[in-house]
Amino acid sequence: MRRSHSIAVIAGDGIGQEVVPAAVECLDLVAGIYGLNLEYEHLDWGSDYYLRHGRMMPEDGLERLGRHEAIFLGAVGSPEIPDAETLWGLLIPIRREFQQYINLRPVKTLDGVASPLASQEPIDLLIVRENNEGEYSEIGGRMFRGQPQESAVQETVFTRMGVTRAAHYAARLAGSRRGKLTSATKSNGIIHTMPFWDEVVAQTLQEYPGVTLSSELIDALAAHLVLRPWTFDVIVASNLFGDILSDLGSAVTGSIGVAPSANLNPERRFPSLFEPVHGSAPDIAGKGVANPVGQIWSGAMLLEHLGHGDAARHLQLAFEAALRDGAGTRDVGGTSSTEEFTREVLRRIQASPARSGR
Ligand code: NAI
Ligand code: MG
Repeated sequence: MRRSHSIAVIAGDGIGQEVVPAAVECLDLVAGIYGLNLEYEHLDWGSDYYLRHGRMMPEDGLERLGRHEAIFLGAVGSPEIPDAETLWGLLIPIRREFQQYINLRPVKTLDGVASPLASQEPIDLLIVRENNEGEYSEIGGRMFRGQPQESAVQETVFTRMGVTRAAHYAARLAGSRRGKLTSATKSNGIIHTMPFWDEVVAQTLQEYPGVTLSSELIDALAAHLVLRPWTFDVIVASNLFGDILSDLGSAVTGSIGVAPSANLNPERRFPSLFEPVHGSAPDIAGKGVANPVGQIWSGAMLLEHLGHGDAARHLQLAFEAALRDGAGTRDVGGTSSTEEFTREVLRRIQASPARSGR
């Protein structure tokens, strides 16, 4: 197993500048315990770079990222720049160029993070969002700008290959867990693309006799995710549906500040990208109060992806324990600053014995 890895780090904007250094400190400490060597290239790309250079990353940005095994991103987005510029100038090109066609978002209740739901039933589900096509396509256009007949068209693109590989990934995950896969659909209202999605998902699932598939209309599924989220195991969804469901998922478990995500190229031909679900949070940026858990948990997913499940689990247990002991930041009902919480995590990483075998 390789023990040395090169990682591109883009802290980006707003609280990315606060939570990324915190998570890197945790990663380094745990790496030391497991004899791993993480080599970082820190890249100052994002909105400040944009204001200086007129673009979010240099022209050879993707080429430079492509030399690394993984990318660790904070967030991008600034009130001074339209969000479409920041998103399409950095994150979306990375996801597409590196065929990160799976966006994996764990949704899990953590002790010490209060859920807004009355029920205390523990939630533990995974959202598998198709990340390369679907509703977020570049096909479309605008006509007759400013005139009464002005119109806009945006095409949704589903391919057999794209839906099949997302369904395979989700089915394998469900097979390794409780064996329940829910597919988000809207084939009653969207009569071409969504029936195609349903068909391809169902065909793919024939290869997984141990996994039960249920298709749920997205509107009912959204309600279900609020009313009985503990009944889900793995949810597979298109780009748009998966995006919405994962914010909803992080909301029902407590705070968006704790939610992690991985943009995966499962074949590992290209680097995968690990980032929290939250954005740059300009309302709290620079105050030292941001919750670093989403970023640290994304770091644990990065370690897992690099083949170091033991180190990932060690890191996971450390931040879970810090939260359970009430050391959380303000968004989860605690009083700690980013730095104080991070110190508690570091202390627990140091204090627990190294794990081996899994
Ligand atoms: P946001 O996630 O940045 O913030 C939403 C709310 O949650 C805010 O009240 C914020 O203070 C709070 N929050 C978020 N993360 C937190 C944390 N770690 N600890 C404590 N509180 C936290 O979403 P918003 O406000 O819609 O977007 C702000 C900017 O971020 C926009 O420019 C947006 O485009 C960008 N964005 C970028 C993303 C990315 O880089 N992947 C994802 C989502 C938004
Ligand atoms: Mg989102």
